[in-house]
Amino acid sequence: MSGRVSGKVVIVTGAAAGLGAAIARRLGEEGATVVRTDIADGQDVVGQDVTDETQWRDLIADVVKTHGRLDGLVNNAGIADGKGPPDPEGALAEDWRRIYAVNVEGVFLGCKYAVPAIAAAGGGAIVNMSSIGALVPTPFLSAYGASKAAVMQFTRSVALHCCEHGYAIRCNSVHPGQVRTPMHLDLIARTAAELGIDEEQAAEAFLSKVPMKKWQEAADIANGVLFLMSDEARFVTGASLVIDGGMSLTN
Ligand SMILES: NC(=O)c1ccc[n+]([C@@H]2O[C@H](COP(=O)([O-])OP(=O)(O)OC[C@H]3O[C@@H](n4cnc5c(N)ncnc54)[C@H](O)[C@@H]3O)[C@@H](O)[C@H]2O)c1
Repeated sequence: MSGRVSGKVVIVTGAAAGLGAAIARRLGEEGATVVRTDIADGQDVVGQDVTDETQWRDLIADVVKTHGRLDGLVNNAGIADGKGPPDPEGALAEDWRRIYAVNVEGVFLGCKYAVPAIAAAGGGAIVNMSSIGALVPTPFLSAYGASKAAVMQFTRSVALHCCEHGYAIRCNSVHPGQVRTPMHLDLIARTAAELGIDEEQAAEAFLSKVPMKKWQEAADIANGVLFLMSDEARFVTGASLVIDGGMSLTN
């Protein structure tokens, strides 16, 4: 099957690296016109800090002006750690605020400005990147886990809001388990340093939590997002698509 999202104009945030880059590539392969944004520089990447409301307003207006429409948004940008320790006792309020600003407010602002634009195009789809961290307790990443649970519930509110207003916009969350992106490699390095073990041992400990006993690939997440952005998912809204190799079953 090809052209599964052809003709659609879609924004992907956090698309300079990791999952966002893979999602943008996959949607492009299936025919979408993809606008990639990121706070970091990258090839064909539009500069955007998802915590900045004015930038969201301008981005959506620019995309509609340039491409004539907006059909979809993938709120993928996210961060996991801050300057202080990540556990509930040691965490810094400043880190909580920053993690919430990017992971929760960034998603809220994206939905706030994309919903009317997508509605004006006759409907479409939004995917918000949550995490397995929304489903299993994460004392070693406490703000992150709480922020991703907020993303899941906000997604459900957006989904119902759009139904109630007759917008034909579906909104779903995606929950990756462990994919070896820069964010995940960083987590492994930090864990290894904290425990005084080498990174290979830390990686093994993380992998042992995955019943399928394999690392996921970014493509596994990109394919899930592709399905949700396509018309194949026309009756799927407010859902949480867990792509984690079974990790949430046993942890
Ligand atoms: N990798 C995993 O195992 C995993 C698991 C569960 C959930 N996730 C989620 O998937 C998403 C992508 O994660 P990843 O692993 O590719 O991370 P990553 O750190 O490799 O990439 C994230 C991208 O977001 C960008 N970004 C950060 N802050 C931003 C901001 N304020 N505005 C715009 N862009 C910003 C970064 O520059 C980076 O390019 C995140 O929301 C993350 O929480 C990842």
